[in-house]
Amino acid sequence: MTAIVYTSNTGYTEQYAKMLAEKTNLPIYSLEQASEKLKPTDEIIYFGWLMAGAVVNYKVAAKHFKIKAVCAVGLCETGTITEKVRKTNSIPESVALFTLQGGYSPKKLKGMHKFIMSLVTKSLINKIEKINSPCESDIEMKNALINGGSFVKEENLAEIEAFLNN
Ligand SMILES: Cc1cc2nc3c(=O)[nH]c(=O)nc-3n(C[C@H](O)[C@H](O)[C@H](O)COP(=O)(O)O)c2cc1C
Repeated sequence: MTAIVYTSNTGYTEQYAKMLAEKTNLPIYSLEQASEKLKPTDEIIYFGWLMAGAVVNYKVAAKHFKIKAVCAVGLCETGTITEKVRKTNSIPESVALFTLQGGYSPKKLKGMHKFIMSLVTKSLINKIEKINSPCESDIEMKNALINGGSFVKEENLAEIEAFLNN
C-alpha cells in the first residue's frame, strides 16, 4: 500500500484516516493533494464519507488510483451495511470494504446537506422515540442527532489494521 487518501466534509473521515496513518506510518493525502502527489499506479486505501448511500468521491478516486480498500464513514454502526454500500457504489469484490461509524456535526453543515439532514434526523429521532425500551446506543444516537456527537473510536480500525497486516 502506498498511501491513505480521504474525502471528508465535517472532519470525522479525516480523523479516522489520520488515526490509521499514525498507526501504519503510511503517507496521507486529501483526494485533492493526492492528484499531485501520487501516480495512477499507486495502491491506496480510500476513506470517504457516506452521503445518501454513496461513498463520496469513490468513483473519482477509483479513476485515478488503484484502490485496494475502501473505508466508508457514516452514521451507521461500524461493520454494518457493508454489502449495501458495495452494491450502491459498484465496488468490486476484489476491493476490501469497511464501514466505520463517524459522527454528526449539524453546525458544520451547509446548504443542501443541512436541509437533507434536518429531515433525516427528524425521522430518525421519531423512530428512536417510538422504541419502548431504547438501549444505550439508541439514546446516544438520539443525543448525537439533536446536539451533534462523535462515535469515532480507535478500536473501530482493528479490522482494517488486520487487513493491512496480512
Ligand atoms: C447529506 C448527508 C447524507 C448522509 N447520508 C448518510 C448515509 O446514507 N448513510 C450514513 O451512514 N450516513 C450518512 N450521513 C452521515 C455522514 O456520513 C456522517 O456524518 C459522517 O461521519 C460524515 O463524515 P465527515 O465528517 O468526514 O464529513 C449523511 C450526512 C449528510 C450530511
